[in-house]
Amino acid sequence: MIYLDSAATTLQKPPAVAQASANAIRTLASPGRGGHPAAARAANTAFACRSLAAELFKVENPEQVIFTSNATHGLNIAIKTLVHSGDRVVISGYEHNAVTRPLVTLGANILVAQAPLFQPQAMLAQFDRAITPDTKAVICTHVSNVFGYVLPVREIAGLCRQREVPFVLDASQSAGILPVSMQELEADFIAMPGHKGLYGPQGTGLLLCGREEVSTVLEGGTGSISAKTEMPDFLPDRLEAGTHNMPGVAGLLEGLRFVQRTGLERIRRHEWELLRTAAGKLAACPGVTAFWEPAGKCQAGVLSFQIADMDCETAGEALASQGIAVRSGLHCAPLAHRTAGTFDSGTIRASFSAFNRRTDAMQLIKAVSQLARSHAS
Ligand code: ALA
Repeated sequence: MIYLDSAATTLQKPPAVAQASANAIRTLASPGRGGHPAAARAANTAFACRSLAAELFKVENPEQVIFTSNATHGLNIAIKTLVHSGDRVVISGYEHNAVTRPLVTLGANILVAQAPLFQPQAMLAQFDRAITPDTKAVICTHVSNVFGYVLPVREIAGLCRQREVPFVLDASQSAGILPVSMQELEADFIAMPGHKGLYGPQGTGLLLCGREEVSTVLEGGTGSISAKTEMPDFLPDRLEAGTHNMPGVAGLLEGLRFVQRTGLERIRRHEWELLRTAAGKLAACPGVTAFWEPAGKCQAGVLSFQIADMDCETAGEALASQGIAVRSGLHCAPLAHRTAGTFDSGTIRASFSAFNRRTDAMQLIKAVSQLARSHAS
């Protein structure tokens, strides 16, 4: 199979990830739940994972790194800490349902900063206009999961600092590919999955906390101050109720080590070269529309495209039958599709990882151009 769905989850992982998860099942108990060696090994593994994440994402203290079950979990904690019913919140027009659904559930007053694809200055101007002193939070994706569009988050975070408005970054598509720095952004929260660009197992995620006051979305045992009926007020325990996913954490640690060893710039350049090859050729195929930014200034390795008059789900199924895995439809991000004008049709999305090769991009080009030709004739 040619796997081009890494924006959903990376399937090819460094071999050490699966080995570490399998070893964890046999050798790790629960951190903080006993003085025996299996509990101590688990505590050491969890601390190593937090410490490496703190180093990679420039977080002052490993205790500010929270294990979550995915980016959605982290975003829910961030949003439910900062936003209450009726509060004004500013988001970009490229947010995922992981941001919009919690906000709608809370009854927030949502202002959407809208600007066309690949126009960061226009997006920034919209945020500048929308962030008022009574804004309770700004939430922005770093990279659109549909279009790979890299939003100007450094500048948006700067506006938030100037106006003293809390900032939340959704780094779901950027962690492990672009620099993400808590120190630089001074964000209140940064949420990310462990299972995409960090190459960990599904069921893992990280929430980086830039503040100590946080609301819990889950309460229970933490292995600390057990006599108290309330949740601990310190991190990470306050946000980590229940037994940890140690096979996940052990695998994620190896994924983080792979990213650190390989280097962000090398991964980013590799994915961009594959996207550039695929997008350039697909854009030249009659009947194919590719959504890309040829200069490569604000796009990461996620490419949406359409085939004229062909339903995108049908196209995705046709590609799957030829052994090419992509994702078609609205990608859990209807707002992004509305902003880009693709809501009615959806798109076909190919997304790359460090493990894809040029031959994968060439196979995609061949299959899509054949589909477009056969559909036109
Ligand atoms: N958000 C993930 C995707 O874009 C699941 O496919």
